[in-house]
Amino acid sequence: MTSSDPWDAETARGYDESCAAMFPPEVLGPSVDVLADLAGTGRALEFAVGTGRVASPLTDRGVPVSGIELSQPMVEQLRRKVPASDLPVTIGDMATTRVPGIRRLPPGQAAVPFEVSAAHSGFDTYDVVSQQGTSHHFSREPDGSYRYSATNFRYIWPAECDLMARLAGLEFQDGWADWTRAPFTAESDWHISVWRKPDADRRPAAGSMGA
Ligand SMILES: C[S@@+](CC[C@H](N)C(=O)[O-])C[C@H]1O[C@@H](n2cnc3c(N)ncnc32)[C@H](O)[C@@H]1O
Repeated sequence: MTSSDPWDAETARGYDESCAAMFPPEVLGPSVDVLADLAGTGRALEFAVGTGRVASPLTDRGVPVSGIELSQPMVEQLRRKVPASDLPVTIGDMATTRVPGIRRLPPGQAAVPFEVSAAHSGFDTYDVVSQQGTSHHFSREPDGSYRYSATNFRYIWPAECDLMARLAGLEFQDGWADWTRAPFTAESDWHISVWRKPDADRRPAAGSMGA
């Protein structure tokens, strides 16, 4: 189950500002470097492209990027920065990719907090049988009140991810913990997998998940 509910016009307008810490070149650079390297002379497709945080600098690096995005308001924000001719986006659904904080969920506990502050408190709840979860957000408004929003997701494990890639006809190439290509281990908070098409075109496809 996925939802674009919280990615409404208001959230989309504030996304770049509220996520400003994820935009500086020193934060984004390593991912863009690896993605540009993987793309080579080929093209890239970003799932859940949002406001183009990653796709836009990748386009600036000369990689032709297309996107898939569920939320029209997020794409409208992207369009304020990059025209459709430079970064075409298809409005549509995809399977969400997210590494759950499930190892921080002791038996009998239903929720895992991921941020607790006066400005924002958030926690995830999980159904470990159906592998579905909900992220709950309580965000402080300028008048001091709190706004509640929630987003649903379904999580998958790395082995499922690799199986889906194999079913799609791709071959596993690399598993990394981050954009420095550190090896993926049982302790990794992030998961980046690279698969390639087993044909003459040796360009790989990359997917990532973060906790
Ligand atoms: C946290 S934002 C990330 C945007 C961008 N990739 C970035 O790194 O800044 C998550 C985005 O995923 C999109 N999204 C969520 N579920 C989706 C789905 N099933 N199909 C396509 N996009 C989806 C949301 O609309 C939102 O724009």
